[in-house]
Amino acid sequence: MESFLKIIKNDCPPPLKNQRKHYKMSIIEGNEISKLLKGPYAKSGFNAVYDMNTPCEKKMIYRKTKRKLSHKKQLKHSFPNEVYMSILTSRKQISPLVYYSGIDPSGYGVIILQKYENSLRGLLKKYDINQKNVERNLSILFEKLASLNVFCWDLKLGNVVGDYNPTTSKLTLRLIDFDMYFCNSKIKLDNDVTVLALKIILSANTKYRTPYTLFQTDIKEYITGTKRSKLKLFHALELISEKPFKTVNRYREKHNLKIFKNPIEMLKDILKIRRLKKT
Ligand SMILES: Nc1ncnc2c1ncn2[C@@H]1O[C@H](COP(=O)(O)OP(=O)(O)O)[C@@H](O)[C@H]1O
Ligand SMILES: [Mg+2]
Repeated sequence: MESFLKIIKNDCPPPLKNQRKHYKMSIIEGNEISKLLKGPYAKSGFNAVYDMNTPCEKKMIYRKTKRKLSHKKQLKHSFPNEVYMSILTSRKQISPLVYYSGIDPSGYGVIILQKYENSLRGLLKKYDINQKNVERNLSILFEKLASLNVFCWDLKLGNVVGDYNPTTSKLTLRLIDFDMYFCNSKIKLDNDVTVLALKIILSANTKYRTPYTLFQTDIKEYITGTKRSKLKLFHALELISEKPFKTVNRYREKHNLKIFKNPIEMLKDILKIRRLKKT
C-alpha cells in the first residue's frame, strides 16, 4: 500500500470502501506520522485517540490500541475484525469514514477516522439538544445497524460521536468502537428486537449522564403493549443478557421494572406465543 503520509501530502485520501480488502492488515508508518499527532485526548478505554494534523479538509483522528497486538488471536482475528466492521458501517453512514488502518511498526493497531466535534456525552454537556432530535438520529443509526445484523453491548454516550449546530439544531451522529469483544455481526433477530435492545442498552448506560432518559417512551410502549411487543421485549433482554456486563442490572435498579424482576413469569406468558423469526 502506498504511504499514507505521501498521500496526505499530495492529495487527501478517499475513505476506504472495501471492508474485505482491509481485513488483511497493512503496516502503517510510525515516527513520521506521530509528528502529526496531538494528544491523546481520550484514553480511558482500550484505545488512545489523537487529533491528526493534516492539510485535508476533513479532520481526522488517529486511534491506536493501548496494547500491542501480540497475541495471535488479536492479530489475526480481533483487530482486523474491528477494522472490517468499522469500514462496513462507515459505508452505510452509521460510523465515521475510515481513511486508513493497519499495524504500526511497534505492533499497535491503528485506525484513522473522520473526526467529529465530540462524543454525544460531550455534546450533551455543551449544548442544550432537544431529546427528540437525539432519539430520532440514534433510531436511524440503530435501524441501519440492525439491518447489517450488528449488535454492540458496549453502546454508551462515549461510543457515539457527532456534530451539532446550535443555530440550525442540526445534529449528525455516528457510532464508534466496534471492538470484537463487545460487538457481534451475526445477530439473527427481527430488526425491531435488535433496535429495542440497543435503545435499552443506551438508556441504561446514560443513567447519570443526560438531562433526560433516552428512549424511555419507546421502551414503555413495549412494556405496556401487546403480547407480541412483550415478546420482542423479552428477546431484546435475552440478547442483552448474553453479555450482561452491568447494563441489565443498572436498568433493573433504575426502572424497578416487574419484567426484569420476574423473567420467569414473563417467560410463561411468552411461551404461548411462537418465537419471532427475522423478517
Ligand atoms: N471519529 C471520532 N471523532 C471524534 N471523537 C472521537 C472519534 N473517535 C473516538 N473519539 C473520541 O475518543 C473516545 C474513545 O474512542 P473509542 O473508539 O470509543 O475508543 P475506546 O475503545 O478507547 O473506548 C470517544 O469516546 C470519543 O470521545
Ligand atoms: Mg469507547
